[in-house]
Amino acid sequence: MNVIVVKDYQEMSQEGGQFLYNQIKENPNITLGLATGGTPIGVYQELIKRHKKNPLQLSDITTFNLDEYIGLSPVSPNSYHYYMKQHLFGPLRISSEQAYLPNGTATNPEEECNRYERLIKEKGGIDVQVLGVGSNGHIGFNEPTTPFCSRTQVVELVKSTIEANARYFDSIEEVPRRAISMGIQTIMEAREIILFANGESKAEAMYQLLANTKVTENWPVTILKKHPKVTVIIDEAASHKILNLLYNYNKEYEEGQYLYSR
Ligand code: GLP
Repeated sequence: MNVIVVKDYQEMSQEGGQFLYNQIKENPNITLGLATGGTPIGVYQELIKRHKKNPLQLSDITTFNLDEYIGLSPVSPNSYHYYMKQHLFGPLRISSEQAYLPNGTATNPEEECNRYERLIKEKGGIDVQVLGVGSNGHIGFNEPTTPFCSRTQVVELVKSTIEANARYFDSIEEVPRRAISMGIQTIMEAREIILFANGESKAEAMYQLLANTKVTENWPVTILKKHPKVTVIIDEAASHKILNLLYNYNKEYEEGQYLYSR
């Protein structure tokens, strides 16, 4: 695991934007797994900036999003369909034929989960998965205690996630209680993973991932210790509980390597 600690949100976004730019440049047929939330917005902006300066060939990329709220139509401003269009697909002119998200208004959500899993397989799997993390360690919408073997499924959001995401809605009552999310196993099958975390609210989750040796379903993000190719880009606020440790482990750490940079 490579860990890059940067100063703040802006530096995290620049590192991330450059990382994605390089990945697409190297492989114009890439299949990207994409995340929503506040964390990757800056990363997407930095990718767009770089693309505008030195255009990438984007017509052959494919994208799969991690999740979507159940009950929100794609045109609802709080849906992840809308978010992706606004923050990435619109500016990059990525067409809906190459960008997949779970359908939150499917009449049979369970069937929709199976269809989504099949589609990921049919397209050859995910090359690089972008992840954020919830303050309780959730990845996608896989809340604590979700089995590590889970695949795309209907999930119930926990109180803290509903509260955290309420900032995007007019009131907390409007936050959907359920979502369709790629499962943890689905995420782990990506060939490479890049995780972003910024702000103090993510510090405990980063401690569980980077300092605690336990891999536990109580902290879904800890499963990433088992993945062979993970890069973690975090800012100082998210890493404040582990800074000393990162200084000490500036060499080998278990099977991975910590890279500390500022
Ligand atoms: C949301 C999303 C996750 C995201 C996380 C963190 O619930 N489903 O994919 O990583 O919460 O969100 P934020 O980046 O806004 O802190």
